[in-house]
Amino acid sequence: MKRNGLVIALDGPSGAGKSTVARLLAQKLGYLYIDTGAMYRAIGWKARHEGIDPSDEKKLADLCQRTEVLIKKDNSDPRVYVDGRDVSNEIRTPEMGMTASAVSKSAAVRARLLTLQRELGNNGGVVMDGRDIGTVVFPDADIKFFLDASAGERGRRRYLELKAKGMDVDLARITQEIVDRDQQDSSRILAPLKKAEDALLLDTTGMSIDGVLDAMLKVVEKVK
Ligand code: DC
Repeated sequence: MKRNGLVIALDGPSGAGKSTVARLLAQKLGYLYIDTGAMYRAIGWKARHEGIDPSDEKKLADLCQRTEVLIKKDNSDPRVYVDGRDVSNEIRTPEMGMTASAVSKSAAVRARLLTLQRELGNNGGVVMDGRDIGTVVFPDADIKFFLDASAGERGRRRYLELKAKGMDVDLARITQEIVDRDQQDSSRILAPLKKAEDALLLDTTGMSIDGVLDAMLKVVEKVK
């Protein structure tokens, strides 16, 4: 199918800086930024709201059938809606990160969100960040990046991000949560967090946001 611009996949563990640089890269290129983690958080939010155990596959499958997840296509203010309710702020807590990770093991949840992600990206002109974009969602993506950073650095970044939002957080606890979540995301059976063989690995430890962005733009220019 002829696409309207590139499909750029950006995977990696939590706190590697994916969402920040994905958004900036999309802005630079005039592409759409799609945060697939927000979709898992949205489903996790609703499961929690309804008191559904994240390991209850049957109930999650039913929930997926009757839930509308909508992504507002606006890079400067990306928002997520669940059945018309804006949950963008509520889903940004460490607890919702863990819940998202738990529901992301479900086959029904993954199938439902895969369809949505492909619908959003199929025409091209997108930067999509997540855990399985280069391996499962768009294995034929034009460019695949895998962003990583040391656990300490990722913990520190997430800590500063949450603190800036006024949350009362503890650095050691946040770092441990990130390590636990990555372990869970990498060891699950379906679409685990892993670098696609043809993805370009960028270790962002000690790199500035501009440095990462520049490195990515150089790759994009070569492919464009
Ligand atoms: O990117 P994030 O931290 O908002 O993602 C929350 C969780 O969602 C993550 O721990 C695992 C899951 N996820 C996934 O399984 N696949 C994706 N493509 C994106 C997120």
